[in-house]
Amino acid sequence: MHAVRNIRLCTKDCLCLYVCPTGATDTETGQIDAQKCLSGCRLCVDACPSHAISLVPEEYPAQQETSGDVKKALGILSKSKTEQEIAAYEIEEAAETPRAKQLAKAIGMSNRIMAEDLLREAGFMLPQSGEVLKLLNSLVESETSEDFPAAAAEKLIQKLRKINASMKEKTMSKTTDNLLEAFAGEAQANRKYLAFSRKAEQEGHLNAAKLFRAAADAETIHALKHFEVAGKIGSTIENLKSGVEGETHEYKEMYPPFVEQAEAEGNNAAVRTFTFAMKAEEVHAGLYQEAMDTLDNQEEVFYYLCPVCGNIEKVVPGKCPICGVSGEKFIKY
Ligand code: SF4
Ligand code: SF4
Ligand SMILES: [Fe+2]
Ligand SMILES: [Fe+2]
Repeated sequence: MHAVRNIRLCTKDCLCLYVCPTGATDTETGQIDAQKCLSGCRLCVDACPSHAISLVPEEYPAQQETSGDVKKALGILSKSKTEQEIAAYEIEEAAETPRAKQLAKAIGMSNRIMAEDLLREAGFMLPQSGEVLKLLNSLVESETSEDFPAAAAEKLIQKLRKINASMKEKTMSKTTDNLLEAFAGEAQANRKYLAFSRKAEQEGHLNAAKLFRAAADAETIHALKHFEVAGKIGSTIENLKSGVEGETHEYKEMYPPFVEQAEAEGNNAAVRTFTFAMKAEEVHAGLYQEAMDTLDNQEEVFYYLCPVCGNIEKVVPGKCPICGVSGEKFIKY
């Protein structure tokens, strides 16, 4: 959230200048600098005696669709309001008494406000609206009149293009976050259903076991697709590097405090599973690094997996150096 000022309501009492801790508000220009605004501390909102400041979200919602007929009607109305505004200013100029001048001026302003509201409804005043860009482009191209500020309009066009591009980027990065969150959820569901399937098998519920296995595979399909669409699959060398980083993070940073906490709580089963995993991850990191260094080596390598602790060896050991299980149990890859 950040603060915006409605300059029509602002009476320039300047209280916002005093309360804003970052100097984000500027009553000279009517602007509140969104970069300086402390994502909605709302001191200015509460201080403003004219209720001229409100908080708006960082990202604007998409523009509401307006049908062609409604836009046309709004166009006709705003044109008429503009004509009335011009007429009012002509009356103001010709008026002979101050009161008549004042009245004509007020009528002119009133028509301007109505025209602005009509145009806003038609989508011409929202920065995220395509209409604004279309209008500015057509004005620049048609060279309406000599005093038309073409350079300023050009500048505005560039600014709007930039805003639109960054909004698009933001939406896309949100989708990437969503893809990765969905990937994590689906990957977890896969492992959960496999554990449930094993349990169902042990209890002799073979149909349930089968269903859990099928569902686990389904979650894998989802997880792999989400991960792929998120663009997280690189070349093999990049993927090996990612493997080294992930495993290193786990054995160096993630597991040590987990082990410590489990020890402090006297949860021996947790201490055991964390310690096995922590030691195995260190081995995995080493193997990934080695595979990176010898990627072009064509000689076939075999890996042997300990089914108890997840340790991986290149030669079957007499017993697992991490958990002590017999080497005969190791699974060959
Ligand atoms: S406190 Fe409100 S009325 Fe006063 S200058 Fe700021 S925005 Fe305007
Ligand atoms: S919300 Fe806070 S930081 Fe932002 S302009 Fe208002 S007073 Fe300043
Ligand atoms: Fe690992
Ligand atoms: Fe082991």
